[in-house]
Amino acid sequence: MRPVTSSGEARQGSGALVPSEPAAGTPPASPAGSLPSLHAGGATVQPAHGGNLAWAARRYGLPPESFVDFSASLNPLGPPPGVLERVAASLGDSACRYPDPECGWARNALAAHLGVPPENVLLTNGGTEAIHLAVRWWASCVSGNRPGRGRVVLPIPTFGEYARAAAAAGAPVVHVPLAAEEDFRPSVPMLTAALRPGDLLFLCNPNNPTGALLARDELLEVWRRCLGAGAFLVVDEAFLPLAVGGEGHSLAWDACRGPGLLVAGSLTKTYCLPGLRLGYLIGPADAVAAAAAYQPGWSVSAPAQEALPACLEDTGYLARARLLITTELPLLARGLATVPGLRVFPSHANFLLVDCRGTGRTAAEWRDALGRRGLLVRDCGNFPGLDPFHFRVAVRRRRENEVLLASLPWYTMPCAASSLGG
Ligand SMILES: Cc1ncc(COP(=O)(O)O)c(C=O)c1O
Repeated sequence: MRPVTSSGEARQGSGALVPSEPAAGTPPASPAGSLPSLHAGGATVQPAHGGNLAWAARRYGLPPESFVDFSASLNPLGPPPGVLERVAASLGDSACRYPDPECGWARNALAAHLGVPPENVLLTNGGTEAIHLAVRWWASCVSGNRPGRGRVVLPIPTFGEYARAAAAAGAPVVHVPLAAEEDFRPSVPMLTAALRPGDLLFLCNPNNPTGALLARDELLEVWRRCLGAGAFLVVDEAFLPLAVGGEGHSLAWDACRGPGLLVAGSLTKTYCLPGLRLGYLIGPADAVAAAAAYQPGWSVSAPAQEALPACLEDTGYLARARLLITTELPLLARGLATVPGLRVFPSHANFLLVDCRGTGRTAAEWRDALGRRGLLVRDCGNFPGLDPFHFRVAVRRRRENEVLLASLPWYTMPCAASSLGG
């Protein structure tokens, strides 16, 4: 394990900084202050995140609604029954007034659902806003908002928004590369060895795009070591409510009490409402209040606030979703692994990371071949820490997973590449 700075240096066991070779096709991490764009810039440039149907429509010449989207890892059940109807029925009223700036009703409902006091919860415009607010909060703690006083430490590969939030806050990024031979699974010493006072360690649990899950005991030990090093910890639990074996591993409750720890979550993933945008930040009440000071007014729309209590009312919904994922994840993994040349990484999340180098084709080639057939997978070539031979596939419903699996052997046939131009 060698932590790598955003300038491409790696720290070895001795503590010396040495140049590191980025993997082929891996973009360098963003230096402090430069913000990678979320705009795909036409149909040729790979978008920053999955789920970009407008980009896919331009690239493949198909209507956006015609795609089966395996590139965004949402709850495969879709939104809880009745929620969209409730939101639609309230729209005439809610769209014509300002939302509650405190999100009182929705916040109380979420706090009760998570078993934490409301003053420890901040509702956000998606998990993405929670990530950005967490970084702003940390930056204000360590530097009074002056850039460059601490580093954001990222085990890679991981979700790209952490580096964007660091860049937006003017903070340098340090990478801790995870090893493919170890299925990208981090260990506590690996995560904490390079921490310095004032650093912010970001953990995604389970991790996007690898699906690796850290147990609560391990997380508590990481937190303990962060405190010992004078560092901060943010755990992004965006995929935890949908994770196989994820129960009992949340730090939400601990974050309310402890210093230096925030937990972020994405309700847009949990309840499949990515267009409505809902997320949350949990932490000590003073930290939550400080983070809230950076949030633009009325950030969470009235329809989103309306949707949340409705989502929580269906108490069996999450259990049904987890049952579906628990059943489909191994089927999808086994199906993918039967394709010669595909290596599937073990995952606890509602998605699978696949290494396709054994097929002789890049992830972009796989993405395009499937995209032309209306099936979207996430080319992971732009994740620092991965190379152009990784793609990610979300777990969907049985029928959709079967359609994807049925399409894969076809692309491994020699005639497929020539008929499609690769
Ligand atoms: C790990 C992780 N956290 C947070 C988010 C953001 O989710 P949201 O759509 O709620 O902003 C994503 C989205 O892909 C993600 O992968």
